[in-house]
Amino acid sequence: VTQWPMADPRPVFHYAPQRNWMNDPNGLVYYDGEYHLFYQYNPHGDRWGHMSWGHAVSPDLVSWRELPLALPETEVMAFSGSAVIDWKNTSGFGRGGKPAMVAIYTGFDPKSRIQAQYVAYSNDRGRTFTRHGKVLDIGSTEFRDPKVFWHEATRRWVMIVVKAKEKKAAIYSSPDLKQWSHESDFGPTASSRSVNWECPDLFELPVENGRPGETRWVLTVSQGDNGPDGGSGEQWFVGAFDGRRFTLEPGWPDTPHWVDHGADFYAASSWNEVPDGRRVWIGWATDLRYAHAIPTYPSRGLMTVARSLSLRREGDDWRIAQAPVRELKQRRGPLRRVENVRLTETPTPLELGDSVDLLVTIDPLRASQVGLTLTDAQGHELLIGYTPETREVFIDRTRAGPHFHDAFADRHVATLPPGKGTITLRLLVDRSIVELYAADGTRTITDRFFPGKGPLRWSATARRGDAVIRRLDAWPIEPMRST
Ligand code: FRU
Repeated sequence: VTQWPMADPRPVFHYAPQRNWMNDPNGLVYYDGEYHLFYQYNPHGDRWGHMSWGHAVSPDLVSWRELPLALPETEVMAFSGSAVIDWKNTSGFGRGGKPAMVAIYTGFDPKSRIQAQYVAYSNDRGRTFTRHGKVLDIGSTEFRDPKVFWHEATRRWVMIVVKAKEKKAAIYSSPDLKQWSHESDFGPTASSRSVNWECPDLFELPVENGRPGETRWVLTVSQGDNGPDGGSGEQWFVGAFDGRRFTLEPGWPDTPHWVDHGADFYAASSWNEVPDGRRVWIGWATDLRYAHAIPTYPSRGLMTVARSLSLRREGDDWRIAQAPVRELKQRRGPLRRVENVRLTETPTPLELGDSVDLLVTIDPLRASQVGLTLTDAQGHELLIGYTPETREVFIDRTRAGPHFHDAFADRHVATLPPGKGTITLRLLVDRSIVELYAADGTRTITDRFFPGKGPLRWSATARRGDAVIRRLDAWPIEPMRST
């Protein structure tokens, strides 16, 4: 077990609570200078249970400050959900001319096992909530994870919520956040061969390489199994949304479009109210197969960095591009640059550190594989690599330790668009997580790994022929100042 208090190995720029169990991000909303990150939290232990909403705030989506529990469990557990700012006071929950922050979440009744949608509101910037109660109950035990947002075109609230076992995302509308009318269902689709759907989201994105002003709606949904690595994963769809119904883009291929090709990206949700209109989201960095076995203590559960999203056409198909939020650059320490480093079978050591933001341009020349290896003091190795012939970038954990679960020792692959020559990768490494962004963020691989005590050593190699690192820029990420 990696004892996080030892040798200070907590991630530096990824959010984890001080202690106990955390799963999905919830209630993501910006208000009055603060980004809120609520999350599924067990205040009583480091396994799933007593589900409540934990709470952290940030001025910049990077430095998080943990706050007291926001929504403790009552006779119902507080499962996943979202939060909005009710600017027009449609709910009447506002006070003193100030809008309420309204949380819409699933209440799970452990006795009846019914899952229904509940509302609570805050008049003190999310610090405390008043329960309004149940607003939507269809008598189902598999009805959860409401994502609510204001739909300006129809001037109503829209909720997307899953009927998990039916693999449907249901759309509801409301004038006041209390009365909800069913509008339509999306799904199931042939491409989702999972046991369930969870944590849906729905938002509009500009088409980056489209006509001026061209947009599409993106619907995302997490799947409990059968993801890109065999475990849990997150799928997305492109289409149109009129406030009532989501319709798939004509010709949308019914093959899975995965948000991320690693093991550890789940339950992502996007912020409401981001001031500059960016679409930013954050995911829970785990695989459901081993979430409970993650060898960290005294907290179990980690978020990815917040990522900005964009949408692109790629040939006849579509891609979501993800990038760490630009605010991360403000946390970068002094640049360390190396240029024109020739790589061979003999590992070339690199001094990069344990928490680093890195941009590397590699020319594979005639090598069959190029890789960056992270070795811990015990000799466990994590390999981040590229195979030019197949255009595959990968993260290989088969030699990464410790062996805490069978699903861990695996290799995760993303295929780049056709091409040859140099490739540029952005890598975020933060002690127990690596996020790989390739082809301008249209391919990502997010994987946890658990180095033992002591510093990480980095090295680079090329197989069957030399390769060159044209340039590698590495910025250490400075520990968070307490805000
Ligand atoms: C996803 C999930 C959600 C549910 C929550 C309960 O990880 O199963 O569907 O609301 O976790 O903690």
